[in-house]
Amino acid sequence: MAAPKPGNRPANPQFSSGPCAKRPGWSIEALKGALVGRSHRSKPGKAKLEQVINLSKEILGIPADYRLGIVPASDTGAVEMALWSLLGARGVDMLAWESFGKDWVTDVVKQLKLPDVRSLTAGYGKLPDLATVDFDRDVVFTWNGTTSGVRVANGDWIPADRQGLTICDATSAAFAMDLPWDKLDVVTWSWQKVLGGEAAHGMLALSPRAVERLLNHTPAWPMPKIFRLASNGKLSEGIFKGETINTPSMIAVEDALDGLNWAQSVGGLEGLIGRSEANLKAVADWVAKTDWVDFLAETADGRSCTSICLKIVDPWATEQPAEAQAEIAKKLTSLLEKEGVALDAGSYRDAPPGIRIWGGATVENADIVALLPWLDWAYATVKAG
Ligand SMILES: Cc1ncc(COP(=O)(O)O)c(C=O)c1O
Repeated sequence: MAAPKPGNRPANPQFSSGPCAKRPGWSIEALKGALVGRSHRSKPGKAKLEQVINLSKEILGIPADYRLGIVPASDTGAVEMALWSLLGARGVDMLAWESFGKDWVTDVVKQLKLPDVRSLTAGYGKLPDLATVDFDRDVVFTWNGTTSGVRVANGDWIPADRQGLTICDATSAAFAMDLPWDKLDVVTWSWQKVLGGEAAHGMLALSPRAVERLLNHTPAWPMPKIFRLASNGKLSEGIFKGETINTPSMIAVEDALDGLNWAQSVGGLEGLIGRSEANLKAVADWVAKTDWVDFLAETADGRSCTSICLKIVDPWATEQPAEAQAEIAKKLTSLLEKEGVALDAGSYRDAPPGIRIWGGATVENADIVALLPWLDWAYATVKAG
């Protein structure tokens, strides 16, 4: 017998982990003030870019002596820029526990070909042993593994008096998780994640120690213009005041400002974190009473409140070959799409098959709550064949 369909539907079925749902109430009208057809170097153009920097700093509580810049190519651009500009001065510990972290390991080992790299990796659902990290070396890690839904719980494992730099890809954490700025020398993120902006430029925050490295270390490799943060031993200060290296989309800039203004309207960082944690809690309460599903993250404090990754644990599914399990997850997410209750809720292409629900700040708790019975319905429907 077919499982009965739940009565309630999420008002917004957008649960993609990037680009993420727009903020509640967003419409194209939000972009009507965009400075289209004008130079980003004009006075009003530069003012908008500078406002993105200032509002981001204010909301995130970034220390006054940190620099924050808008850089090319979304989060990937910001991370690559940091790796290529800063690494090589000392040995590096590369931490990775899912797809994006592993990409950064590949870059440093195979592209930059640094001679002294330790890769500390863990499989999906786990974290590497953080106690083995050597902070006399530079350390590169992802705060929240978007494709496994595993985050570091806090920065307690990072010493304040470290010698190396900590370089943190925080793209699915910024604006939804507390980032301990004193423990982080480089932090990157993209507009397309927690505030629901457009993928375009990335954000790069640098501590005074990261700036010192930039000024005193010349990489052994050529540095294309698009990555250049300093030249002739001088920091390109303009980048941190809205003078972007290349041309940004002023529509994307307007949208980033819209997201930041909305963030303030819901109580700033505290409000944003509260919204995201409430979404995780709704899912966790449901998982606790549902026997076919569990978190991919193996510990409760490692569960992401943004990219919430779930695996099917029902023996009916887990006793089947890997390919059949992948097929079950695919059928489940296709049913959700067909019903229009959850779009893009499949796990990442390289991750174990399952469900990934974005719970970032722009996602309404009522929509997550309305979605959960549909997951039960879809699983029962797939199982019934
Ligand atoms: C942890 C992490 N790093 C990097 C990226 C790449 O971000 P972008 O495509 O915005 O450059 C993503 C995208 O989802 C991500 O989740």
